[in-house]
Order: sequence, then C-alpha cells, then structure tokens
Amino acid sequence: MAPETQTAPYALTPEPRGEDRAYLEFTLGLKQHWARRLYPRLRERYEGLLATARRPEPSTAEAAGPIVESLPEYSFFGWMERNPQKMMWRRLEKVVRESAGAAEALDRPVERPLGRLELDPDLELPRYYTEGEFHIQPGGVWSGNENAFVYELGAKIVMLGENDEYLFHRLFVETAIPKREYRAILDLACGFGKSTRPFVDAFPRAEVVGIDLSGPNLKLAHHQAERLGKRITFSQRNAEATGYQDGSFDLVTATMFIHEIPMPSVRRVIEEAYRLLRSGGLLAFLDFHRTGDGFRDFMMVAHGARNNEPYMPHLFRTDVVGLCREAGFSAAEMLPFDERGAGLIADGVWPKRPEWHFPWVVVRAER
Ligand SMILES: C[S@@+](CC[C@H](N)C(=O)[O-])C[C@H]1O[C@@H](n2cnc3c(N)ncnc32)[C@H](O)[C@@H]1O
Repeated sequence: MAPETQTAPYALTPEPRGEDRAYLEFTLGLKQHWARRLYPRLRERYEGLLATARRPEPSTAEAAGPIVESLPEYSFFGWMERNPQKMMWRRLEKVVRESAGAAEALDRPVERPLGRLELDPDLELPRYYTEGEFHIQPGGVWSGNENAFVYELGAKIVMLGENDEYLFHRLFVETAIPKREYRAILDLACGFGKSTRPFVDAFPRAEVVGIDLSGPNLKLAHHQAERLGKRITFSQRNAEATGYQDGSFDLVTATMFIHEIPMPSVRRVIEEAYRLLRSGGLLAFLDFHRTGDGFRDFMMVAHGARNNEPYMPHLFRTDVVGLCREAGFSAAEMLPFDERGAGLIADGVWPKRPEWHFPWVVVRAER
C-alpha cells in the first residue's frame, strides 16, 4: 500500500512513533525540568549571593551577567539548555528522513487551492540567514523540505509543549490587534504559517498574505493552510524589501522575527512596513524585549548565545519604539504580553513568574 502522503491531497507532517516518540518525550521532559526546576534554583542562588554581599538587584543584563556566570550551577544550566535542543533536532531529522515521501509531497501542487503559493528560486538569501543555524537547527529552516517539517515538529517541544495548539499566536491576534476593517494584512517572516492563520479567522474578509525567505517553510505553510481551509497567499520575499507597492496593506505584522535579524535589518523592516502601510494602517509585532529585571534579561540575552540567536543581545539594547518613530510612525508603544492566557497586558506590568519563560512584548505603531 502506498504511504498516506502519496495519495493525500496535502503533504502531511510525519508523526513520531514508538521509540522516537519516547525519545522526544524524554527531551521535552529535560527541557521542562530545565525551565521549571533549574531556572528557579539558579535564581535562588543568584538572589542568595546578592543578599550575602548586601548588593541591590541589578536592573540590566550587563550588570547581572558576571554575577550569574560566577555561580557553579550556571554551566550545568547552560549545558541543559543546549544539549536537549540538539538531541531533539537530531531525532526529528531521523523521523522526517525515515518518513517515506513526506518531503517530496511538499513539492506537489495542492488541487484547487483556496490561496496561492509564490516561490522565487532566484531570491537572494542574506548572509546572516544562511551562515548561522538558528536555534541550532542543522541546515536552518531553509535548505530543504525536510527542514520545514523538522522545524514545525520542533517548535512544539521548544515551547515546552505549551503551545501545541498555537495558543499564543491566537492570543496575539485576539488581544493585541484592534478590531478594524482590514482589507489587506501582511505577515512578515511567516515561517510555516502558524502566525498567519489566526488572521484569517479573526478577519475573514481581509486578504491575508504571508512572506518568508524560506521556500520549504512557505510550501509547508501553503499545504497546512489549504488542509485547514484557510485562504492565504504565501510568497517568497525578503521582509526588508518586499517588492509590493507603497500603501498595499492596512496591517503589517510579524511574530518572533525581529530578534532573529541584525539591527540594520530591523530598521529596514520597520521602514519597509511604513512604506507598505496605507495612511491609518497599523504595524504590530510580537517579539521579545528587555524587562528591567537584570537576571531575567541576562538569561534571555545569554539564551541567544546558547541557542544560536546571535542578534538577541542587539535587540535587547535597541529602542524599537524609537526606531518606529524615526521611520515616521506615530503612537508607537511597547506592551508586555502573557502567552499563557491573558495576552496583551494593557497596564504594562510584567507578571512575576518563577519559571523560565520568554519576555514577550507587543510593539504597535500607527502610520
Ligand atoms: C522564528 S521564525 C518565526 C516564524 C513565524 N512568524 C512564527 O511565529 O511561527 C523566523 C522566520 O523569519 C524568517 N526570516 C528571517 N529573515 C527574514 C527576512 N529578511 N525576510 C523574510 N523572512 C525572514 C525565517 O525564514 C523564519 O521562518
């Protein structure tokens, strides 16, 4: 009998089974232990050290860093962050490689699609993109169809099993995007489309477009959107220079994008968003930022180094709201975001949380 992906109308994500599943659950367990046990314990040691030395808590990553690094537990903490991540990717590569026909199925056109897939094999990929392996994923998210599936499967484990239904992407749309009549929405760096799909549900009359540099990501995004009955155009373009006409969109959004690109690129992306928006249009990004809690901010900046996200420290030093103003936007603001259920935190106060978690923020600005 032919494998399911040979006959199904859409490419299907391989499902880890048996020993592979057990192995991946083990790596998830290691990651959860790291986030829920090792992180609070490290913080306890850090606070203990400060109390003994009668020093106030530093408010910057730069000041907190040397103190954290002086703790013997820190090197084990770092090891426990990096190695389960590597174990996870290797096993997912095996799962996808051994899943007959899965990668090839992404190249087959979807019959009678609702949306569109536009690939540009001549698109030049920036060096920052091809020379590093983001999140330590071998081959990045762009070098083959397999990588898109590996990334999709890995994203669930990276989010510690707490975003399997893509809750925080929905919360972003439901709590941080004002309810307006958007005619055209652009999701920059849409990956495999999990950040794009909620816009179709929330704004069914809008034309929704997702762009990304990665052809494999876009193919998977297209297959998944079609499978779920969502009309989206996925197009291979660089968010720094999209090629769309001035004033083509009323909402330009990006999720988990600007921490992955160098600072000159962040500036160009914001300028490009300004150019693409009609007057009265909205920029809305969901990403990470410093919180003013030195320990937490250092752990995030250092997470960038440990997890091959080299531009994270730059983002933590950058005034993103200021960049929006410089590009011409008004009413630029940055608000904390709670990915567990509240979404946008309108009073601007970060919740105190003992476990490791990302310092989410929403950046919004009006054209
Ligand atoms: C962490 S992923 C986020 C994907 C998606 N927004 C989500 O929330 O799942 C970052 C994405 O940025 C894309 N990317 C990086 N640089 C880009 C650029 N200059 N233009 C378009 N996409 C880019 C990568 O291919 C990757 O899919």
